[in-house]
Amino acid sequence: MGLNMGLNKQDFDVVIVGGGGSGLRAALQLSEAGHAVAVFSKVFPTRSHTVAAQGGISASLGNMQEDHWLWHMYDTIKGSDYLGDQDAIEFMCRKAPELVYELEHFGMPFDRNSDGTIYQRPFGGHTQNFGQNPVQRACAAADRTGHALLHTLYQRNIREQCQFFVEWMAIDLIRDREGAVVGLVALEMETGEVVLFQSKAVILATGGAGRIYHSSTNAYINTGDGLGMAARAGIPLEDMEFWQFHPTGVAGAGILITEGVRGEGGILLNSLGERFMERYAPTMKDLASRDVVSRAMDQEIKEGRGVGPEKDHVLLKLDHLGEEVIHKRLPGIREIAIKFASVDPVREPIPVLPTCHYQMGGVPTNYYGQVVVPRGQKVAEPVPGLYAIGECACVSVHGANRLGTNSLLDLLVFGKSAGDHVSAWLKTHPEARDLPRGAEEPALARLAALESTEAGESVAALGTEMRRVVQHHASVFRTGELLQEGVSKIRMLAERARHLRIGDKSRIFNTARVEALELQNLMIVAEATLVSAAAREESRGAHAREDYPERDDRQWLKHSLWYLEGSRMAYKPVNLQPLTVESFEPKVRVY
Ligand code: FUM
Repeated sequence: MGLNMGLNKQDFDVVIVGGGGSGLRAALQLSEAGHAVAVFSKVFPTRSHTVAAQGGISASLGNMQEDHWLWHMYDTIKGSDYLGDQDAIEFMCRKAPELVYELEHFGMPFDRNSDGTIYQRPFGGHTQNFGQNPVQRACAAADRTGHALLHTLYQRNIREQCQFFVEWMAIDLIRDREGAVVGLVALEMETGEVVLFQSKAVILATGGAGRIYHSSTNAYINTGDGLGMAARAGIPLEDMEFWQFHPTGVAGAGILITEGVRGEGGILLNSLGERFMERYAPTMKDLASRDVVSRAMDQEIKEGRGVGPEKDHVLLKLDHLGEEVIHKRLPGIREIAIKFASVDPVREPIPVLPTCHYQMGGVPTNYYGQVVVPRGQKVAEPVPGLYAIGECACVSVHGANRLGTNSLLDLLVFGKSAGDHVSAWLKTHPEARDLPRGAEEPALARLAALESTEAGESVAALGTEMRRVVQHHASVFRTGELLQEGVSKIRMLAERARHLRIGDKSRIFNTARVEALELQNLMIVAEATLVSAAAREESRGAHAREDYPERDDRQWLKHSLWYLEGSRMAYKPVNLQPLTVESFEPKVRVY
C-alpha cells in the first residue's frame, strides 16, 4: 500500500506510545479519571516486552522476614553505584507496598504463602538492615510475574474503555514554537496510512532498546522508538553508557533465565565445578548485584575456566532444588531450558552467559514522569506536554546498575505518577495547543526518502552489522580504544542508514517500512551508547572500563546527556538529596 499524503487527524487528551506495563499503568490512571486516552502499540498490548519479566516485583512487604522501605532505598542506591537520584529512589521505594497491594486487589495471581500473604523470593542485592544479610523482597507470580502483571493491567484498561491503536507505530513528536509537545505523527502498520494525532500530552512508554546488542534478552520490538523520537525532537538522552548484562541468558540463545533461579538457591559453577561467586562476593555470593556477577562470569571465562568445547559459558545448577520446587516456582524456566538449551534442569545444569537485558539510561525525567532538560542557565526545566516512563525513561532510579525486580516496580510507580500528574495538568490546561503548520513534514520526508531509494543498504544486513559493532565495542568490559573505534564504526553505519532500500517502488511492504524506521531509531541509541561510554573515563556499575578501573566520584558523580545534534555530550549533577530522609553518601561498594 502507498502512503496517504492527505493526512487524517485525530484528537485525544493524551497519547501514550507503548502498551507495556508503564503505558498501561499510566493509561489506567488517566482513563479512570475520565480523560480521552489513546495507547499505541506495535503489537497486541499483552505481547509487550513486560510479558518477559520473570522473577518478581520488589516491595518491602516483609512477608517472609522483617523488611523496610528504607533498606530497599539503601539497596537501590548502592546497586546504582550511587548514580541514582535519591529523591526518585525514595519516592519509588516508599510507594512500592501500596502499588503491589493495589495489583493484588486488581486480581493479579501472585504466589501465596501458607498464611495467604504474597510469596516473596530473594533477589540480587536485596538486603536487610543496610546490607547485612539477604532478604526476600521480590513478590512473585511463579516465574511469570510480568506476564501476570500485563494481563491484569490490560483487563483493567478494557474495563475503563481505554482506546488501543494496535499495530500502530509512532514516528515523530510534534513540538510547537514554544517547544511544547502538541501531538505526534503515527503509522498504521496494516494499511500504511500516516495519521496526525493532536493531544494535550504525550507519554513515551516504549520500553528498552536492547536490540542494539547481538546477544540480548530483549524482544524484537525493543528498538528504542521513544528514544529516537525524543532525540530527533532535540531532547538529550541520559546515561546511555549504562547497559545491564543479565548474568543468566541461555548461552547461544540469549533467552532470559530469571535471577529467581539463584533466589531459590541455584548456583553458578565454572569448568572446575567451583562455586566461583564465593570468591567475588563473599557475603551475597550468587545473589550479588548483576553487574558484579556478570563481570565475575566474564573473568572466569577469560581465565580459561569456561565450560563447553569453546570454554565460552558457565553453568547454572538447580537440580538440588528438587523437581517439586522447580515445578512450583520455576515452571517457565524448565520449559525454556528444555526448548532453548536442550537440558532438563531437574537433572542437568543450564549453560548461561551474560546477555544484554536492560537500559538504565533514557529520556531524562523527574519523578512525575515529566521530561526535563537543561535550558539556558536553569538546571532542568520540564518540556510542556511531554512525559516518559518505564525503561525508555531515566528518572534516574537505577543509576549505573539496576537491581532485579526494580524494573516492574519502576514502571508501576512512575506510570501511575505520570498519569496523576498529566491528569492534574489537564485540569489547568484544558485546551489543546495548535499543531504548527507543516508539522508532519519531517516524518513524511523520512518516509518518502525510504520509498525513493531504489539502490540502497539492506535493512537486515545493516542491522546485523550494527548489533555486532555494539556487542564487540560496548560489552561487559570496555576500553577507551575499543570504544573510540566503535564510535567511528557506528557513525559510518548511521550514515549508511540514511540510504536504506526497502523494496522497489511497485512492491513495498509496510513491515519493511517499519523495520527501516526501527533501524534508524536503533542507530541513534547505538551512537548515544558508544559516544557516552567513550566519554566516561571511570568504572561505575555496569560501565566497566579496563583503562579506568576505579569509580571516580570527584569527576564523574554526574549524569551524562547526549544530544543527537552534533552528537555532543553535556552533564548534570546527581541528586543526592532524598525527599524526607538523610542522604546516603557514596561508599565503596562490596557485596
Ligand atoms: O531475572 C529476572 O527475573 C529479571 C528480572 C528483572 O530484570 O527485574
